[in-house]
Amino acid sequence: MRTLSGDVPADVMAAAALLRAGQLVAFPTETVYGLGGNGLDETVVQRIFAAKGRPQDNPVILHVASFEAALPLWAPSPGQLAHAQRCAEALWPGPLTLVLPASPDVPPAVTAGLRSVGVRVPKHPVALALLRSVALPIAAPSANRSGRPSPTTAAHVLRTLDKDVAAVVDGGATEVGLESTVLDLTRDVPTVLRPGGVSIDELRALLGDVAWLGRGDVPEEAASPGLRHRHYAPAIAAVQLAPLDACADAWLQDHALLMLESSAASLQREFGPRAAPLVCLPDEPEAYGRGLYDALYRLEETAAAHLMIEAPPRGEGWRAVQDRVRRAAGDPQEFE
Ligand code: TXA
Ligand code: MG
Repeated sequence: MRTLSGDVPADVMAAAALLRAGQLVAFPTETVYGLGGNGLDETVVQRIFAAKGRPQDNPVILHVASFEAALPLWAPSPGQLAHAQRCAEALWPGPLTLVLPASPDVPPAVTAGLRSVGVRVPKHPVALALLRSVALPIAAPSANRSGRPSPTTAAHVLRTLDKDVAAVVDGGATEVGLESTVLDLTRDVPTVLRPGGVSIDELRALLGDVAWLGRGDVPEEAASPGLRHRHYAPAIAAVQLAPLDACADAWLQDHALLMLESSAASLQREFGPRAAPLVCLPDEPEAYGRGLYDALYRLEETAAAHLMIEAPPRGEGWRAVQDRVRRAAGDPQEFE
């Protein structure tokens, strides 16, 4: 895999040429790095699945440079289109994926056999320059080996992917750090399938009633196949989500700990510094989310056998973080 620089226009042009030639290129978005390929070419999309080891039943999303470029990919009802337009005007470019009925232009490999397709306009200058130059919808799941934490730097991409990836465009660390919010507009009530960079309050302000997946009678897995598979797992034998008092008990043991800064500071005052690995993340949800995947990759480098993640706070602002840490610990309970 070549490393290209997002700061060098000739490198971005080279990445666009690779994509147009049917190659796979990892590139930065504002959420996480994506593994991109021509989203209209069935065999290219199949190679994305192979490069990631992604289960065949998990659809990928398409990336375009504008709302106008998304329109040929959808076959929405007038009501669905009105919802999409309202979201796009307010929140695109941005960390929001809109799921609508797919047009016949979209290859079955993209939708994994579903009748809908997710599309978004990313808010990252390198991603937008690339998409404008390629002028094709780019299929891009997160650029990690399936099941591993999503990459927020080019170095993370290089860590888990190699096979059949022509290049990674290095655009530095991503700003949001967690994946986009996935909003399903095909249902009577618009439904958030995956919490992410856009909050449900922002969506409710635009659309009125918006539901969370898992709160009604629709099983999670039927609605978004990706939810059925293990995600975000660091290469650590045992990963556990634990309350603060369990972290306090583990402070003088050899567990690796991932904690809130304020909690770690109080345990340090009480028990003194610890020898075993400790990574802290800020007490504020956006900053926590930005650092989470990098923290998981740093913790796996310590070769610890047991990681204890302090359960983050509850509350609407923490929803996307809660979702990711639960999945990282293999414990995707419903969020309360
Ligand atoms: O922020 C992001 O969305 C990143 C960057 C690269 O754009 N991409 C990303 O892609 O996270 P991926 O493939 O790792 O996650 C896409 C999620 C999966 O959970 C998938 O199951 C769901 O979106 N999804 C895709 N198409 C869908 C559809 N038609 N219906 C329901 N869920 C869908
Ligand atoms: Mg992913």
